[in-house]
Amino acid sequence: MSTPTLDGCGREISYLRVSVTDRCNLRCVYCMPAEGVPDLGHNRMLRLEEIARLVRIGAGLGIRNVRITGGEPLVRLGIVDLVAMIRAIEDIESISMTTNGIALPQFAEQLAGAGLNRVNISLDTLDADRYRTITRRGRLEDALAGIRAAYAFGLTPVKINMVVMAGVNDDEVVSFAGRTVSEGWHVRFIEFMPLGEQARLARASYVSSTVTRQRIEEAWGPLVPADIEGFGPARTWRVPGSDGSIGLISALSQHFCSSCNRIRLTADGTLVPCLFSDLAYDLWEPMRAGADDDSLRDIWLEALAHKPAGHHLERALTTTSHQMSRIGG
Ligand code: GTP
Ligand code: 5AD
Ligand code: SF4
Repeated sequence: MSTPTLDGCGREISYLRVSVTDRCNLRCVYCMPAEGVPDLGHNRMLRLEEIARLVRIGAGLGIRNVRITGGEPLVRLGIVDLVAMIRAIEDIESISMTTNGIALPQFAEQLAGAGLNRVNISLDTLDADRYRTITRRGRLEDALAGIRAAYAFGLTPVKINMVVMAGVNDDEVVSFAGRTVSEGWHVRFIEFMPLGEQARLARASYVSSTVTRQRIEEAWGPLVPADIEGFGPARTWRVPGSDGSIGLISALSQHFCSSCNRIRLTADGTLVPCLFSDLAYDLWEPMRAGADDDSLRDIWLEALAHKPAGHHLERALTTTSHQMSRIGG
């Protein structure tokens, strides 16, 4: 088994986030414009076999954990087959997915059967009217049914992602933390990141993880460290005695760049070494032109060599052009 390749800054890159579509059945205010995003075009989208081929090349360079993202990954045709194809790749240890959960009642059983290990589910409110406002079209009851389906078919630990927004849902932080006690939920409170067209809204609605944590501790008392399976940037805590956990994801207030272990592959075959840099390495064109695995591996190595050391978003006035829905978070 190959050891993880070191990037240009000496970090081991073992986690690949694969965005399989930029389409979504919702339009969350922090992610997409109301009208959605222009279609990538069928031809420009990687085929399932092409995605699997690139994951295999990544595995040869030390990728061990794969997370499937979108847009909404469950709107991609053949998603269950893709999970099975990735499962068949030697050296891939864990496959997870980030989803809004709406289609999980339909897919959870098949996904688990195909080898998906676990899911993270976006849920920003427990109020039905608010859910519709934040997602611009979704139904809270569908997302909750998705969470139940994930538990029912063992896609655990199920993690709930809440993007905390001032004046929108920040008054629900304490009740979400309560679910870690009453239901054993694993909730992650995420700082709103200023990407793409949502940058202005992000700056207006930003709540730091420090403030979120203070609110939780005022209600639930001091948090203690918790250890939850995961490869992402969350720092994890729990209310003493609870079965669940509280994750804080602080992209702006506390950089996790120095321990970054990941690289992204978009649905149109671009390797993106950092969420906050416009650097992008195209694999689609060489692949469609017939490049062999060695040539694609060389491009991958180049992307790793140039992965930026970090970002200075908290000081920047403008941000990168990446659209969250296209890059998959
Ligand atoms: P696990 O820890 O393995 O469960 O997954 P994860 O937290 O990496 O995945 P998820 O898709 O649930 O991401 C949660 C949040 O972390 C999202 O808002 C992502 O955009 C954010 N995130 C993940 N990786 C990065 C990163 O490299 N940089 C930044 N700034 N945010 C990231
Ligand atoms: N800032 C922080 N998190 C975001 N997500 C989507 N857009 C943003 C943003 N601008 C989250 C979603 C999803 C995950 C992939 O990224 O809630 O759970
Ligand atoms: Fe869709 Fe997820 Fe973006 Fe919401 S955050 S619009 S569910 S991709």
